[in-house]
Amino acid sequence: MSAPETTPRKRGGSFDPLPEWAGVATRLVHGTRRPELNSGAVVGPIYQTSTFHFPAAHTESAERGGVYLYTRLENPTFEGPAETIRQLEGGEEARLFSSGMGAITATILSLVRSGDEVVALQDLYGGTIDLLSDLLPKFGVRVRFLSAAEAREPEAVVRKGTRLVWLESPTNPTLSVVDLHRWADVADDRGALLAVDNTFATPINQNPLALGADLVVHSATKYLAGHSDVLAGAVVGPEALLRRIDAKGYLGASPDPFAAFLLGRSLKTLSLRVARQNESGRRVADALARHPAVRRVFYPGRNSPEEEEIARRQMRARGGVLSLSLRAGPDAVDPFLRHLRFVHVASSLGSVESLASVPALTSHRHLTTAELAERGIDGSMVRLSLGIEEPADLVRDVTEALDALGPSPTAPL
Ligand SMILES: Cc1ncc(COP(=O)(O)O)c(C=O)c1O
Repeated sequence: MSAPETTPRKRGGSFDPLPEWAGVATRLVHGTRRPELNSGAVVGPIYQTSTFHFPAAHTESAERGGVYLYTRLENPTFEGPAETIRQLEGGEEARLFSSGMGAITATILSLVRSGDEVVALQDLYGGTIDLLSDLLPKFGVRVRFLSAAEAREPEAVVRKGTRLVWLESPTNPTLSVVDLHRWADVADDRGALLAVDNTFATPINQNPLALGADLVVHSATKYLAGHSDVLAGAVVGPEALLRRIDAKGYLGASPDPFAAFLLGRSLKTLSLRVARQNESGRRVADALARHPAVRRVFYPGRNSPEEEEIARRQMRARGGVLSLSLRAGPDAVDPFLRHLRFVHVASSLGSVESLASVPALTSHRHLTTAELAERGIDGSMVRLSLGIEEPADLVRDVTEALDALGPSPTAPL
């Protein structure tokens, strides 16, 4: 059966323009209205389709980008959330992916080739480390992981010939802050691209593109979608780079339309959620710092005066993720977690409910004891991702769980 004759639909029908003065919270709610595609509906539809009609006569215009072709490549449901994330990060273009790892894999594989060098922090999300250390060397790409000390000296580690620099700030799980502006200057000087995974900070708290990065990636599964019910990823950057990443549509890391719809729905409340999570992060970090059962608190800017100075320059607020190490050692972790009422033990972060995880047993379990120690991680460390519960309730919950550990002699090192 031949495809029905229809007028090719334009991709990306424009969004209702907002006045210059509209702030972030207003843009999140009103920034992607598109009445001509939505039949006037206040909430746009889900285009739950894998493919689109187009008349054979229009094949050529389809290839030139005139119509939607196939959901692995594009779908109108993706455009609203992508536009919101683009505006939040201040980039030229944004694309959605099926997960943060989908976004990271498509980005890295699109930008490097055999013989290239990638420079990356050793403190990265475990999946990114696996991709860089397991897959890339098979294709002749050299990857250099940097210690915390090297991460403070970009001038000494980025060489002419380095193709890509991959950073996270704040890092996971020690919440270290890396000077993104300085890294961007050095990468630019040496002809390397700088990509920043901004998942922990969120675009509400930090905009790496404004600090000079070339690309920003997100696990949108975390704060952007924010309800522990969606897997998604996003990349934001200049059109020329995103076209190279688009060309890898055959990698297949496209979102499902329903996931994209849920992401768009969730983005409307992002600034409210993150403001609450920032407040809880600060208040719980303060309470932990005062508690005798806590040996050390890890929170952006608190690791050293230098990091405080960097955080003040590049972050609007410090976020809702923090880590603590228990003075009584690894044996105290289980009783502490069991005593928490409102903080559930689960990996992931950035959701409306508070979550706790033990990095040495979850995200960083593939590292040896020596590698963990190099990163300042041990079995007594717990990472907390604070949700949108009452900040005072979270402070009380965490404090009572620490109190219940009793007087704690310092564990032998
Ligand atoms: C900083 C960071 N980047 C990327 C990812 C991967 O995202 P996803 O789980 O959506 O693939 C994660 C997941 O925890 C993460 O924490």
